[in-house]
Parts: sequence; C-alpha cells; structure tokens
Amino acid sequence: MTEDTTTYAFVVVSNRLPVDRVVDADGNAGWKKSPGGLVTALEPVMRGNDGAWVGWPGQADVDVEPFTSDGIHLVPVALSATEVERYYEGFSNDTLWPLYHDVIAQPSYHRVWWDSYVEVNQRFADAAARVAQQGGTVWVQDYQLQLVPRMLRDQRPDLTIGFFNHIPFPPYGIYAQLPWRKQIIEGLLGADVIGFQRGADAGNFSRAVRRLLNYTTRGLLIDVPEDGGRTVVAKAFPISIDSSEYERLAATPEIQARAKQIREDLGNPKTIMLGVDRLDYTKGIGHRLKAFGELLAEHRMTVEDVTLVQVASPSRERVETYRLLRDEIELTVGRINGDFSTISHTAISYLHHGYPRDEMVALYLAADIMLVTALRDGMNLVAKEYVASRIDNGGALILSEFAGAADELKQALLVNPHDIDGLKNRIVEAIEMSPKERAKRMRALRKKVLENDVARWSSAFLTALAASKSALPAEPGEVVDDEDDQDLEWLPPGRGPAL
Ligand code: G6P
Repeated sequence: MTEDTTTYAFVVVSNRLPVDRVVDADGNAGWKKSPGGLVTALEPVMRGNDGAWVGWPGQADVDVEPFTSDGIHLVPVALSATEVERYYEGFSNDTLWPLYHDVIAQPSYHRVWWDSYVEVNQRFADAAARVAQQGGTVWVQDYQLQLVPRMLRDQRPDLTIGFFNHIPFPPYGIYAQLPWRKQIIEGLLGADVIGFQRGADAGNFSRAVRRLLNYTTRGLLIDVPEDGGRTVVAKAFPISIDSSEYERLAATPEIQARAKQIREDLGNPKTIMLGVDRLDYTKGIGHRLKAFGELLAEHRMTVEDVTLVQVASPSRERVETYRLLRDEIELTVGRINGDFSTISHTAISYLHHGYPRDEMVALYLAADIMLVTALRDGMNLVAKEYVASRIDNGGALILSEFAGAADELKQALLVNPHDIDGLKNRIVEAIEMSPKERAKRMRALRKKVLENDVARWSSAFLTALAASKSALPAEPGEVVDDEDDQDLEWLPPGRGPAL
C-alpha cells in the first residue's frame, strides 16, 4: 500500500480523536463518540474547515490507517499499553490533572511517566508535521500535549501554531511543584498563540514564564528571545458550545415529550435537581450529595417533593484516585437512598452511564435545578448546555465559583461548594425562587451563551492566531511584573497584533 501523502491547511491535534474505537462482545470493532467537552467543542469547528484531526483512537495497541468519519479526516496515533499507562493514565491524568486542578488530589511524580510523555508528545508532533501543508495552521489541544508546539516548531518553522488549554493553569505556588516545570513552559512557548479559559489562567502562565525563564511579558504578550526573537500571545478565549443546536433539540416535540416522560417516571415531584458530570474528583459530586443528604436529614425537604438525578459518566477507571472516588460516591448514594428513599420515591437516581445528546437535552428540560458544584473546572460546558436548552426560560442554575463558566454566567446562583451550609441555602433558595425571578436570570444567562457560542470561540482564537503572524516585531513596552495581574486586559493597538 502506498503511503498517503495528502497534506492539509488546517490540522487539529488532540490526545483523543473525536471517536473512540470500541470492540463489542463478539469481537467486532466499531467507533463511538469520545467523552469530554473537547470533542463537543471542536467537532463543529472541524466540519466548517477541510482539515485533518490527529489523535489517539482511545485503545492501546490499535494501529489504524487514516480514515474519514463524518466528513473529518482522522489521523490515528498509536499508543502501546505501557504508554497508555505512563503517558495517559500516569503523567496526564495522575500528575498534570490533579496539579492543574489546584491539587484537589495529590499529584504523583514519576520520571518514567515523564519520559513517556516526552516520547508520545514527539510522536504526535511528528504526525502533525507530516500532514500539515507548507505554511499551514496547526491547533494543538490540551494538557496532554504541551510539548508539541515546541517540537513542531523545531521541525516545521513554516507553520502557524496555536495551543489551547482546556483545563485551568494553576497559580505559580502550585505549578512550581512540577519537576519538569521549565520544560513544559518551553514546550508551550513554541506556539504563536496560547489560549486559556480564563484571564486568571493566562496570568498564571505568564507569571510562571517570568519566574522560570526570566522572559519579559507585556500584558498578554511574551517576548521569547529564541528563534531570532518572537512574540507569543497568552490570552483567555472562554470556550463554549454549539448553542443553537441545543436550542433546536430543545424545541423538538419528541424531546419535549421525553422530558415529560422523565418527570412522570420520577413520580412527578415538585422539584427535580440534576447533576451531570464525568465521574471526576474535580466535579464536587460528593459535596452536592452531602448537602442534599443533610437537607433531607434536617427535614428541610422530603423525597416526595425533591429528587436528585445524578448522571456520572465513567471516566479514567484504571487510575486509582478515580476508582476510590467511584467507591466513595456510590457508598454515599447508597447510604442516602437507604436512609431516605421510600417504596415510591427515590432520593437519588444515580446513573453511571453516558447518554446521547437528545437524552441529555430531555434531562435538562425536565430538571428544575441544575447543580454544577465543581471544586475546580476549566470551563464546565454542562452549565452552558443547560442554559442553551432552556428555551422556556425556566430552570435555575446553581454554579460553582470555581468553574471557569462563573466568569461569564454571573446571573447563576453562584456557590462556594466547600461551604456546605451555603450550598444548602442556595439549593433552598433555588427551590423557592419565583418563576419570574428564575426567568429573569435565565434570560440573561441565555443571552451570554447564545452570543458566545463555540463558533465564536474558535473564530476568535483562529483570528488571533492569523493576526499573530502579521505582528510587528516587539517594541519595547510596558513591563508587567506585578504579582496580581490575574485578569490581564489586551494591550492597546500598536503594541502588537491587533485582534
Ligand atoms: C476533559 C479534558 C479533555 C479530555 C476529557 C475526557 O474535558 O479537558 O482533554 O479528553 O476531559 O477525559 P479523557 O481522559 O477520557 O480523555
């Protein structure tokens, strides 16, 4: 077979392809949509561009040829079982994930994991270098691939390289724990534009660059002396969803009928509360269960009136911290149900599955209150999906201050999930809120989510990326080295690329 030498003007590189390879009980292989917000966000972007997507097919030792799925050209990168263990489960999800989420869980540092991370990042960079057209654009995604921008630039200085970090970037005091902190920063600085979810994340990154490399930063610009002197942009681009698609689904009679059915199946309680998360310790699922359990124990509500539906989709099940979390959550659900459920009313409907989008929209429409109580979250697209689906302006969103979405969704009922009493009060407030007040808040939230949809996110990022190439050489400018530049604003035009 001759090697496919087609190249593409636009290439996305992410750890996972948008589809995972799955093998059924009879040994037949197929593909299913892969988990997480990243795929949800990027799929519509890819459909609009004739590009290629480089990623792992989600299973060890699977070596498949490039293929086209749903109009997207997919370039699989194979990982061995040892690499899945060291690069993916180890360094990505047991070192970087807890570290970047404010050490909610203890990160593990292992040198063999790091070696594997370097090796696998090189493989992704090589694959991207092969499929990218001369002078093309490559957009690298997320914490699993932070070395790729530098590795790619070394091979292909002709490319325009973007990087987007979907998860938080931690404050320097936490980031400094990482034994390879310098290498990661250098890896990222290979990009022309580095995107973050919040201004605070971009500020944390710039501060780490100043502290570790002593480079000058001017607002959102970083002067990198390498490669003859370049200017790198580090800026917030809050990610979003395909809002109009959620609106469209919410308006279909079938989905509305399904929402009604769900309410009936749950015994038509006055209030349905909903949680939808990957089963991850960053999501604060335990905190929300604790709050609900206490409210029932204190007779501030009863299972006849209020029920909680918790969708917890399986995630990273071979990582020890995730296994422990699952046991802990399921023990708590079992206790609360044992203590408070009746024959006809269940306190918590716990569902350890992922669901198709149609069913999710029906759940959003059925739920009076959406609970997003993350302890730390890059953005949280579930909050935005709920809002986009509420075309009736009904429902109340309880949203953690520690989710990136809280920066934009200020009319939600914001909570500190660590404050269990505060969370309980917020739940009661949401239940008792007048329909008029709910509608007022929901209208304001909807405006935000409909305005800043995923198309706007990607075009803002890609416009910034294109502009970075035509940027004037760095002029001496204001040097920012204060410790509190959490929310950096864009510099006035004339100091760098005008975006
Ligand atoms: C988050 C990350 C993604 C990741 C997803 C699912 O959304 O930002 O990069 O793909 O979780 O996690 P998984 O480890 O299953 O890919």
